[in-house]
Amino acid sequence: MSIRILGTGSALPKRRVTNEELTGMVDTSDQWIRERTGIGSRYVSTGETVADLGARACCLALENAGKSAGEVELLLAATCSPEDAAPCEACQIQAKIGAAGAVAFDLNAACAGFLFALHTAWAYVEAGIYTNALVVGSEVLSKLVDWDDRGSCILFGDGAGAVYVEKCQEGGLMGFVQHSDGSQGEALCCRGRQLDNAFFRQTPERGYLQMDGRRIFSFAVRQIPTTISEALGKAGLEAEDVDLFLLHQANRRILEGIAGRLDADLGRFPMNLDQVGNTSSASIPLLLDGLNRQGRLHRGMILVLSGFGAGLTCGAGIWKW
Ligand code: UT7
Repeated sequence: MSIRILGTGSALPKRRVTNEELTGMVDTSDQWIRERTGIGSRYVSTGETVADLGARACCLALENAGKSAGEVELLLAATCSPEDAAPCEACQIQAKIGAAGAVAFDLNAACAGFLFALHTAWAYVEAGIYTNALVVGSEVLSKLVDWDDRGSCILFGDGAGAVYVEKCQEGGLMGFVQHSDGSQGEALCCRGRQLDNAFFRQTPERGYLQMDGRRIFSFAVRQIPTTISEALGKAGLEAEDVDLFLLHQANRRILEGIAGRLDADLGRFPMNLDQVGNTSSASIPLLLDGLNRQGRLHRGMILVLSGFGAGLTCGAGIWKW
């Protein structure tokens, strides 16, 4: 038994911010950003919340799957930029879309969050607890980004992507692996938010996202090929059997490095980072939805979904479409 993806959806804020626009905020250039990252623009919320974007993506995924919100049994929201400590984003999305029968909760594994949530959905289905799930990655990272830090602000964008998955007897998720390394947490962190402790009258420092870009870069290029190979091994497949590698859209050069180490041609690594930048947990489902709607996914195709990020976390799942 496994799960298969029956529908995909995604949502972006209205406001697009080009590299050119960022040159008015920090000492950078369109050329530097494009050459070092492959990013040309990103979308930034002007009021759209994690729940707004997540709900839009979920509705589109349900529509794409031909399902109604009332049928959803499990609603998992992956996010590392929730608006509120409570209620969780998944419950806010549940209320917005009317998935009254679903059990809803959040999961935070940063940029690997959507993958970990998908694998969690698999585990619930495998255990016989639920037969379907709506899994969404939604982020408004622009709240966490230090817009004075040229080393990080050029990378990130806001958005959401969702999939509707259902129990299946063959195909679907064929194998996956997940890893976490908390000892490297300092490489990418956002601390100090929500620490205003009224009891002690403490005023928190505003915590923005801080990143050791080179460290994350080398972690991804070293760790992801091994993680993908491990997951392929679990599915009884090799890199040459893979039709498309749908990787977390962090940096074009990271994807080139991973492709090189897997000895796989870059043409099998679709990208949307040029348009949307790094949207953390929304990154993989946004890419997947784009491909699905362009008609580029065909039954029987082997897809690798793989991500990495703060934690540090990383994972890979092998899917038969
Ligand atoms: O979801 C995971 C999230 N994180 C990531 O994916 C980050 C992964 N890392 C990266 O993508 C890259 O490390 C960055 C794009 C963040 C940086 O690229 P890099 O090639 O590693 O550059 P660097 O940090 O080694 O910096 C090279 C130079 C430095 O100047 P000096 O010291 O050589 O004079 C930086 O100060 O580039 C400078 N620099 C910039 N220049 C223009 C750093 N950021 C910028 C910028 N514009 N935005």
